[in-house]
Amino acid sequence: MRRRRLGSSDLEVSEIALGSWLTYGQSVERSRAEACVRRALDLGVNFFDTANMYGRGAAESFLGEVLVSVPRGEYVLATKVYFPMSDTDRGLSREQIHKQLDASLERLRTDYVDLYQCHRYDVDTPLEETMQALTEVVAAGKARYVGFSQWKPRQIRAAYALADTVRFVSSQPRYSMLDRRPERRLFPTCDELGIGQVVYSPLAQGVLTGKYAPDRPVPENSRAANPELGRTSKRFFDPAILGAVARLGPIAESLGLSTAQLALSWVLRDSRVTAAIIGASRPEQVEHNIVAAEIDLDQATLDAVDRALGDVVRR
Ligand SMILES: NC(=O)c1ccc[n+]([C@@H]2O[C@H](COP(=O)([O-])OP(=O)(O)OC[C@H]3O[C@@H](n4cnc5c(N)ncnc54)[C@H](OP(=O)(O)O)[C@@H]3O)[C@@H](O)[C@H]2O)c1
Repeated sequence: MRRRRLGSSDLEVSEIALGSWLTYGQSVERSRAEACVRRALDLGVNFFDTANMYGRGAAESFLGEVLVSVPRGEYVLATKVYFPMSDTDRGLSREQIHKQLDASLERLRTDYVDLYQCHRYDVDTPLEETMQALTEVVAAGKARYVGFSQWKPRQIRAAYALADTVRFVSSQPRYSMLDRRPERRLFPTCDELGIGQVVYSPLAQGVLTGKYAPDRPVPENSRAANPELGRTSKRFFDPAILGAVARLGPIAESLGLSTAQLALSWVLRDSRVTAAIIGASRPEQVEHNIVAAEIDLDQATLDAVDRALGDVVRR
């Protein structure tokens, strides 16, 4: 598994990271979830992404249980803070950052996380307070580096402009063949400031595997078949999008790949993308998907992808 350096940090992370939203500690049975993580480790994945709010702590607890048997220096652990953990616990105040990180570390059974990410921007807390608190947790050795998810360029620049506070090394946007909006302003801003992209939902929650065909019923046991889990992927179930994704099949096939592998190698074609965070409900998906990290797509393939997707791409 190839590795890339994350922004201006000294973290070397696998091009494929394994995430835990909606899956581990939640919908995926314990033994299967553990098999996914172990398979990933065996195949060279060293980067694991979670958040305090995934299953209200359950995803972190699960990862803590499984990773406790792995030497701490062998994996890069990223978690997040911002979304509600109770009626009164939410946001990026100094108090919350200290309190939520301590709780995350306890669940994750470790003294430090490699990357602590602000899950969203907190409009109710002064940015100075958030950045000062992040500086404190880095100085205390509880987080090695800090990052954010879905912040706007002007918010990123405002954080960068503050004196004597820690600098972000990582950005976590939603990015895939279907949703390229971060290319417009986020990627160039971060590139200038030494911030790498760790992109989420690179398979558009499974849609870019091609398994949701426009003329077939939604497969059983898939995320979209579950009303609760499938809520956030509904936007992709437009016949035009599913039809365009179906046109990717022959392009992938001509390269000896699946649509999922093509979609993942497509996000990794951009050197500003440090890693793609995949979700996996089965170890076979981990195995199948990480093949993408070995593939370099040529310009003719990229052009064919653009023609196949046409105007369903959000730019
Ligand atoms: N920062 C944020 O706000 C944010 C938001 C969302 C996600 N994330 C992070 O990004 C991670 C990945 O997000 P995601 O789960 O949306 O990623 P994704 O990789 O786009 O979708 C993953 C899902 O697609 C299906 N799938 C994956 N590989 C497959 C294959 N080869 N064949 C068939 N189906 C396959 C699986 O679901 P089924 O098998 O159940 O269908 C799997 O759980 C999350 O775990 C989380 O760590 C962050």
